[in-house]
Amino acid sequence: PRLLIINGPNLNLLGTREPGIYGSSTLADIETLCRESAAALGFEAELLQSNHEGTLIDAIQAAKDNASGIVINPAAYTHTSVAIADALRAVNLPVVEVHLSNVHAREEFRRHSYVSPAAAAVIAGAGLNGYRYAIDHLASLLREN
Ligand code: DQA
Repeated sequence: PRLLIINGPNLNLLGTREPGIYGSSTLADIETLCRESAAALGFEAELLQSNHEGTLIDAIQAAKDNASGIVINPAAYTHTSVAIADALRAVNLPVVEVHLSNVHAREEFRRHSYVSPAAAAVIAGAGLNGYRYAIDHLASLLREN
């Protein structure tokens, strides 16, 4: 079984992007951690990062036939995208939303997420480890089903 792990806009810049907020880990580090965490639980991780809303939506739609669950860090689209939230609801797979930073301890506009109502769980502020926790939780949800 396969998990789709999606990272949204500007997360390709991790490592150099606002390291005081996002830390020094790179997208490659996140992807390695995701592959290893998924493999340890018997899943294959399919990884996607895109700066384009439509590309993210296409991947979510394709997951309906290709994946058992989705981990998504929608980045800034969290706070703007009804379309990504609708796509997640449409595919009817378990979703865990991840944020590296604690979005509740930052600017007010980061406290609202269009995506959270479509997610089974939300993890924010755990840095890189948030992806590990998300994969672990998805695996438990899928085992229950
Ligand atoms: C983020 C938080 C968002 O508010 C921000 O726009 C991001 C990254 C996080 O991982 O902490 O790009 O999703």
